[in-house]
Amino acid sequence: NIKACIFDLDGVIVDTAVYHYKAWRRLANQLGFDFTEEQNEELKGISRIESLKIILNWGAVSKSDKEMQELATLKNNWYVEMITKMTPEEILPGAKEFLELVRTNHYLTALGSASKNSETILKQIGLMHLFDALVDGNKVTKSKPNPEVFLVGAKELNVQPEECVVFEDAIAGIQAAKAGNMKAIGIGRAAVLNEADLVVAGLFEMTIEKMENL
Ligand code: G6P
Ligand code: MG
Repeated sequence: NIKACIFDLDGVIVDTAVYHYKAWRRLANQLGFDFTEEQNEELKGISRIESLKIILNWGAVSKSDKEMQELATLKNNWYVEMITKMTPEEILPGAKEFLELVRTNHYLTALGSASKNSETILKQIGLMHLFDALVDGNKVTKSKPNPEVFLVGAKELNVQPEECVVFEDAIAGIQAAKAGNMKAIGIGRAAVLNEADLVVAGLFEMTIEKMENL
């Protein structure tokens, strides 16, 4: 039976994809090319450096490792400028309520995000106190679909992977949860997240019952 809920951040709790897109696009434009919002979808759940590699590939631009580090830092500075202005109003519908509901029902909660900016975001939106453990890009090295980020979360909560439900908006994240032997609930469209055990449009559609009946 389920003892813990592990939540992805971007696209599940808050919609930062638009800020990532703005910052990456600014970088691409500076390098002389552009990419679409549809292409941006492919970057969801993918680490900063892996995202950069994909984007450079789209523009057929090649850079040394050192240059890539500099470009990733430049993008992150622009991104941080935007996320440090975020407010609790940007929490996605039902996210705060569902976090509170599961905690009231004695489930443990953890964050499982690829982002190295997760603490900044959680502080800005005022949800830090609703997590028993925070696991993000600063603690793990293997990018989703590798299950590392969720397995570390289970470990920090002192529960078995089989006792965890993961909430994810990215295909790579659903695959990571399944690879880690966890239940996976997709946030978004069923056609895209077809490997999930259940797909809902947002956390506003979630109930304890749906989670227990997986
Ligand atoms: C999340 C987002 C990705 C982002 C990654 C790293 O998984 O969905 O788009 O690239 O985090 O974020 P960071 O804040 O460390 O650049
Ligand atoms: Mg996400």
